[in-house]
Amino acid sequence: MAIGTVGVVGLGTMGAGIAQVCLEAGHVVVASDAAPEAVAAGVGRIEAGLAKRVAKGLLTDEVATAARARLTATTDSAALGAAGIVIEAIVEELAPKRALFASLHEVCPADTILATNTSALSVSAIAAGCGRPERVVGLHFFNPAPLMRLVEVVRTEVVDADVFASALAFAAALGKEAVPCADTPGFLVNRLLIPILNDAIRAMEETGASPEDIDRAMRFGAGWPMGPFALADLVGLDVHAHASEAIWRGLREERMAPPARLQRMVEAGLLGRKAGRGFYDYS
Ligand code: 3HC
Repeated sequence: MAIGTVGVVGLGTMGAGIAQVCLEAGHVVVASDAAPEAVAAGVGRIEAGLAKRVAKGLLTDEVATAARARLTATTDSAALGAAGIVIEAIVEELAPKRALFASLHEVCPADTILATNTSALSVSAIAAGCGRPERVVGLHFFNPAPLMRLVEVVRTEVVDADVFASALAFAAALGKEAVPCADTPGFLVNRLLIPILNDAIRAMEETGASPEDIDRAMRFGAGWPMGPFALADLVGLDVHAHASEAIWRGLREERMAPPARLQRMVEAGLLGRKAGRGFYDYS
C-alpha cells in the first residue's frame, strides 16, 4: 500500500525530527500541534535540521527547499485527514494518547494507518478503544531521528498483517533499519538501554567515578558514540525517568526502576541538554 502523505502529531523534538525524516524521503507532510507557538517552534526545528543537513553537505539547497515546501504545519487536526499514515509524537501519557487516537479515527479515512512513537507505553493500550486497533502500529524512532538509523516497528496482538507489512515497508523506505518487535515493555532497545543508563547512575554513586570518566570509559572501552551520561542528557532526564518508570511497571525488574538520584535531578529541573544542565553543564 502506497503511503503518500504523512501526518505527524506533536512537534517537539521527536515529532519535528520524524517530520524532517519524512520530508527528506520525499513525502508530503502535514504536521500538527495544539498551540500556534508549538507549531512555530516545530517548524523552526525542522528548518534548522534541514539547514544543518545542507551545511554538512548531505542535502543540496534545492532538495532542502523542496522538502520544506512539502510541509504544511497547522493547529487544525482536520488537515490530517489527507494522510495515508499519521505518526503520533505527543506527551508520553496514556490518557492523552488514547484521546488523540480516538479523534484521529474520526478525522482520518478508514484505511489510514495510525502509528505511535511511544518509547515505553503499550501500543495495545494506546490503540484499545480507538475504533481501529487493527490499523495501529508502533513506529519508534530514536533521538535525533534524522541521524539515528533505527525504527522499531511494533506489532500488537490485533494488528492486520497487511498494515504491519506496510508499516515495515514505510520505515524501510525512509532509509531506516526497520526492526520488527513485539509490544512488550521497552520493545528491544529501551529494554536493554534503560537498565544500562540506570546502572551507570548507580555505578557513579557507588564508585565515586565522575560522569566524565564513566562516559570516557564507555566511549573508549565499549565503542559507544557517546557515554551514558551524555546520552541521558541528550534524551532528557525526565524522558528517561518516565520511560524507566513505565518499563519497571511493566516488568517489575529492579534494574528498570529510575534511581533515586535521577528522580532528584528531575525534580530539581536538571533535565539535560534542553534545560542547560543535567549531568553536564551546557550553559
Ligand atoms: N537534523 C540535522 N542535523 C542534526 C539534527 C537534525 N535533526 N540533530 C542534530 N544534528 C546535528 C548535530 O547538531 C551535529 O552537528 P555539529 O556536528 O555541527 O555539532 C551533527 O548532527 C552530528 O552529526 P554527525 O554526523 O557529526 O554525528 P556524530 O558522529 O557527532 O554522532 C550521534 C552524533 C549520531 C548523535 C551519535 O553521537 C550517537 O549515535 N549518539 C547516540 C545517540 C543515541 O543512542 N540515541 C538514542 C537515544 S535512546 C532513544 O532515543 C529512545 C527513546 O525512546 C528514549
